Amino acid sequence: MPLNSNSKLLQNTNPIEHRGGDGWTILHGDMLNIIQRFEPGVFDAVITDPPYASGGSRPNERNRTTNQKYSSMDKENALPDFDGDQKDQRSWTNWMVQWLSDVRRVCKEGAPICLFIDWRQLPSMTDALQWAGWIWRGVAVWDKLTSRPQKGRFRQQSEFIVWGSNSTMPVNRPVGCLPGVFRYTNPQNRIHVTEKPLQLMREIVKICEPGGRILDPFAGAGTTVLAARLEGYEAVGIEVTDAYFKLGSDRVQFELENAEAPKP
Ligand SMILES: C[S@@+](CC[C@H](N)C(=O)[O-])C[C@H]1O[C@@H](n2cnc3c(N)ncnc32)[C@H](O)[C@@H]1O
Repeated sequence: MPLNSNSKLLQNTNPIEHRGGDGWTILHGDMLNIIQRFEPGVFDAVITDPPYASGGSRPNERNRTTNQKYSSMDKENALPDFDGDQKDQRSWTNWMVQWLSDVRRVCKEGAPICLFIDWRQLPSMTDALQWAGWIWRGVAVWDKLTSRPQKGRFRQQSEFIVWGSNSTMPVNRPVGCLPGVFRYTNPQNRIHVTEKPLQLMREIVKICEPGGRILDPFAGAGTTVLAARLEGYEAVGIEVTDAYFKLGSDRVQFELENAEAPKP
């Protein structure tokens, strides 16, 4: 979906750097600024994986780089670090409320929202979602199947998908029954430090009504955008980190060019 001056999505015509193709776009910049530019009510769902600002129990642990916190790759093979993950607990929660409120304005009534998070930030995320005016509807589980064993402790083997809707969500939407637990290992050969499995995202996007327009304001490697397109949705991503704007949009373009035609 190349965005141009005639686009019905954006409120004014000042250009935003972006890349895209048929039915998809990734915009480059801070989502807080870019969201202000969208017309109200233009998205049918938000499916996203924000920076968790997690990775430790104490402030000095949380202030480490994203590679130090979330990756075990050695320095030579390390992937680029990403922005926005060093907030302290209260700043992160406040920021979450701010962007979740802004994003609600650009969603239709009844639009679903899905937010990835880990166990540490789960309570703050469910608060933030509700403070921003969304209805919180539940938590689905992403079982990663493997994780580091910890003597005398439970494995931290799951992440969570907090989900809800923008006001009421009619049960007669043309969407089938979705699972509450998803079992997928982390992707092999990933290009983003915290990339989500493509097959997982292909299942999650199905919370949106068929053919709807999905927003991922923290696009990273473009996994949600790619999954959405492969399942026949329109998709708009936003990504602030220069390296991931390029890597993610290159990846989506390449994968879509080499994929079978998206579902209509
Ligand atoms: C957890 S990662 C998303 C990974 C993605 N789900 C994937 O599969 O690759 C979060 C992404 O949000 C981006 N980000 C952080 N703050 C942002 C902001 N204010 N606006 C836009 N993107 C932001 C980061 O650069 C990072 O790539």
